[in-house]
Amino acid sequence: MRTEDAPLIRLEDYRPSDWLIDTVDLDVSLHPQKTRVRTLLALRPNPEGQPGAPLKLDGDELVLKSLAIDGKPLDASAYTVTPQALTIPSPPSHDFTLTIETELDPSANTKLMGLYRSSKVYCTQCEADGFRRITYFLDRPDVMSVYTVRLEAAKAEVPVLLSNGNLVAAAELPGGDRHFAVWHDPHPKPAYLFALVGGALDHVRQDYVTADGHKVELAVYVEPGKAERAGWALDSLVRCMRWDEQVFGRNYDLDVFNVVAVSDFNMGAMENKGLNIFNDKYVLADPQTATDGDYASIEAIIAHEYFHNWTGNRITCRDWFQLCLKEGLTVFRDQEFSADERSRPVKRIADVRTLRSTQFSEDAGPLAHPVRPRAYKEINNFYTPTVYEKGAEVIRMLKVLIGDDAFKRGMDLYFERCDGTAATIEEFLACFAETSGQNIDHFARWYEQAGTPTIVASGRYDAAAKRYTLDLAQSTPPTPGQAEKLPVVLPITLGLVGAKGDLPLKTASNAYAGDGLVVLDQSSLSVTFDDVAEAPIPSLMRGFSAPARLDLDLSDADLLRLFSADSDSFNRWQSLQSVATRALVTAGKPGADADVLTATAGKLGEALQAFLKSDALSDPAFAAQVLRLPAPADIAREIGGDVDPDAIFAAHRKLSGAIGKALLGELPGLRGALASSGAYRPDAASAGRRALRNELLGLAALAAPAEAADLCEEQFAAGDNLTDRLAALAAMTLIPGERREALIARFAEAYAGEPLVLDKWLMAQALIAEAGTLERVKTLMQHPAFSLGNPNRVRALIGGFAANLTQFNRADGAGYDFVADIVVALDKTNPQVASRLLGSFKSWRMLEPGRKRLAQEALSTVARLPNLSRDVADIAERALA
Ligand code: PHE
Ligand code: ZN
Repeated sequence: MRTEDAPLIRLEDYRPSDWLIDTVDLDVSLHPQKTRVRTLLALRPNPEGQPGAPLKLDGDELVLKSLAIDGKPLDASAYTVTPQALTIPSPPSHDFTLTIETELDPSANTKLMGLYRSSKVYCTQCEADGFRRITYFLDRPDVMSVYTVRLEAAKAEVPVLLSNGNLVAAAELPGGDRHFAVWHDPHPKPAYLFALVGGALDHVRQDYVTADGHKVELAVYVEPGKAERAGWALDSLVRCMRWDEQVFGRNYDLDVFNVVAVSDFNMGAMENKGLNIFNDKYVLADPQTATDGDYASIEAIIAHEYFHNWTGNRITCRDWFQLCLKEGLTVFRDQEFSADERSRPVKRIADVRTLRSTQFSEDAGPLAHPVRPRAYKEINNFYTPTVYEKGAEVIRMLKVLIGDDAFKRGMDLYFERCDGTAATIEEFLACFAETSGQNIDHFARWYEQAGTPTIVASGRYDAAAKRYTLDLAQSTPPTPGQAEKLPVVLPITLGLVGAKGDLPLKTASNAYAGDGLVVLDQSSLSVTFDDVAEAPIPSLMRGFSAPARLDLDLSDADLLRLFSADSDSFNRWQSLQSVATRALVTAGKPGADADVLTATAGKLGEALQAFLKSDALSDPAFAAQVLRLPAPADIAREIGGDVDPDAIFAAHRKLSGAIGKALLGELPGLRGALASSGAYRPDAASAGRRALRNELLGLAALAAPAEAADLCEEQFAAGDNLTDRLAALAAMTLIPGERREALIARFAEAYAGEPLVLDKWLMAQALIAEAGTLERVKTLMQHPAFSLGNPNRVRALIGGFAANLTQFNRADGAGYDFVADIVVALDKTNPQVASRLLGSFKSWRMLEPGRKRLAQEALSTVARLPNLSRDVADIAERALA
């Protein structure tokens, strides 16, 4: 279907379903090519719908085998059926049952939506609208039903049979070859939360007793032979369950909770009720095959999916426009969990890096959209950083604005009032308006208005009057469909830093909410602080209090003062990022004078040297973040237009190399002090030491390549864990030559047969910022470890290449053509993965004219093709609009 033909679905057109489905009885007989699904639906007219309305059920590529109403086969004249829809024009006017038989071919399902096979495991993915690929249904989240699922399969092929809820029966069938299991989920749920799994799987398990005394069997299922790698996921599950009891007062509500890892999965993981299905990348971990980063993501994603049980499942979304109701809130919850489990400041810095690189760039380009979109053609294209990450920032701001106590009571009220319903953002916000007594209508604009606001701030000190005035203004650039922007409510957490630390804040301003919080909710505002004893340095947006850009003209000297004196860790980190960003923005413009870099490198080198000598070892994870400069792509986004990626990259290399040279003297001592003794442990403190040690290795690779190559080889040879060995490889990729190629080859040998590790190997090569990378990537596509059919492989190699600023954006356009060709090829088998990859073009409009034209041509070539999926056509169309 061409996207122009695809209907635009609008929030304002929402109306309740005419029919409801109270119960669903599914009977699924699994077979690799001919799976039979018999569905019994108990239908009832919705009192809120239109009486006497036809019944129109959704389908997608379905084959109908039989149909009956109240047990009686339906005459062919009484319905119409296509693969996409089943319509009964005159259904009974009362409650009735509908029995539908469909036949599916899970082996042929390459879209990985609906029922498919991954390796030899049968599994399902139904969000957002995959259930209609299993049976005809009212596939919308406000139709909630109680499910009973009977699964049947050959015992040898499929010994494990899982579905949502609790197991109520299981037995062998006569003859002994086949068996069945019956699962019942007492909680009414929308179809997108349905799941089943069948296969030969190993598992690890543990009993858990909830705070309110309910015994739960927890289990993590993985491919045979991988059970030793499932322990960390299970451990993370137990910890996040306790945390949700303690922090949000939420207990689990079934007798079992199962997690299953599969190797072919379009996304990260899925929160199906009682049966979370995961991309195995976010479950499997041991020191040899997972990095510290993997351990942290597994912990975060296990928590994210578990937290959905309350924010998503018990309370679901009325319609897909409300997606951020579950996603933004659940990201906020998982970020808080990780902050509590690890280092809160370091977690915040990492989250802000992600927000800026993924969401700010989305907001700045043609795919920008509000946290709650008003219209869509393909909902799968709206699982975006804006809905997830900015959605979480909105919740975080709400908490800052109304205070911890009103926020907590608002959450409790939401859980109590909306439990069991399909809710809206309005219902959610009403809870907080009630508990805080504040009007939050203006705040709600965050859900409607796209774009990243810029806060322009400047300060004046009147020494005679001992008065400090802060002038604040906000503006938001236009985004597609929203030319005019209105002011949003911006919480600005601040301090005034004097010679001996924070100065007391005294002001009569209405905008001051106490506790160092100024609320900028109009286009501009001045706040005056009294009794300010000395000229202060303003420290604004502490902890990154709003998803906004801050334009505050502090001198390098003031920023360096904040780096050493600010009581807020986030702003300590931010201050050096700001120094580096300013220099790189200047030097990254074509033909710019590179002298500014020499001066900046001197200042940064000196500050970092002192820092590494004095307190780096007290918090190595923080120090690693401080050492890591903003990426070239961050600089490109800051420049914002007429971008020349090569110029930015050259400036970035020059600055990193100079800083590396300044720090070379510290390197051996620090690397020695940070080396770990004893076996690998994944805890945050040990990971922090490795992070700093490996950050230094990366700088050394730029500053002293020959010596660093020795270190990389040694570290690879001695490394007893993937974190250090991969860091050695990554640093070596910065050093062209035979030694690099040799290490790349050794890495592949060492991890042959480990697809998830080889993904990292593929990506490390795809990210090499050299002209030969495109050819290298093309060659790697022929490697036996690569397959276009597996989403993780595609994201690693092709997605990695598309994230390579200089090589994707080659001046000759070959990078664009290559990625566009793969999008088109992939679209035939897996449109969702193809459209995500096409999203790599999202920043094309900020490029200099030559590249811009080439990127536009590549996009137009895709857009013109007939028979594109709705997913790809929608992205191409919006990217070009
Ligand atoms: N709902 C999943 C999550 O955020 C993401 C997802 C969306 C997975 C669509 C699959 C399909 O946890
Ligand atoms: Zn989610």
